Amino acid sequence: MDSRIKEIIYTREEIETKIKELAGWVNEEYKDSKDFVIIGLLKGSVPFLSRLMMDVTVDMSIDFMTVSSYGGETSSTGNVKIVMDLKKDISGKDVLIAEDIIDSGITLKSVVENLSSRNPKSLKIITLMDKPTGRKVDLYADKVGLIVPDAFLVGYGLDVKEKMRNLPLIGVFDQDKLDEI
Ligand code: IMP
Ligand code: MG
Repeated sequence: MDSRIKEIIYTREEIETKIKELAGWVNEEYKDSKDFVIIGLLKGSVPFLSRLMMDVTVDMSIDFMTVSSYGGETSSTGNVKIVMDLKKDISGKDVLIAEDIIDSGITLKSVVENLSSRNPKSLKIITLMDKPTGRKVDLYADKVGLIVPDAFLVGYGLDVKEKMRNLPLIGVFDQDKLDEI
């Protein structure tokens, strides 16, 4: 095992079994949709979304958005900047936002407010991980994969200094190893 990981929270097998289950939810939820788009928030959602979409059997398209959060204030829109916007208009579409993890909820709350103003037919959130103890704003996902503890996690999209997103597990990062990154 990677010596920078203190503890494995979820193994690859556990994560991928859960993602299959989430795809089942997507297939049921969007079976009657005429225009369904999943929006991945870059970069953390990439491993999750790439797995998920292979088990999605309803017609769908994908689009991506990069946002950067400044944190601090809890008042939403002001503290999240759109670094890269969607390529396509979402008005009239069934939109599902895919995220790696919801912690404070600040990032996603701003994204939801922003995307709502573009008049999608529906707007929902699916997240691979949820850290409910970190929540600072009123924001809930419509579908959650794995509940995780309030720790500094890496893997399956989660990074430390942009590294380790590729680890095929969810683990607790040993912060004593921060200067090795
Ligand atoms: P929020 O606005 O606090 O909900 O921020 C969520 C974002 O913070 C996620 O999309 C991740 O990029 C990042 N994040 C939250 N928790 C962790 C963690 O434990 N490790 C690495 N990144 C995290
Ligand atoms: Mg993220």
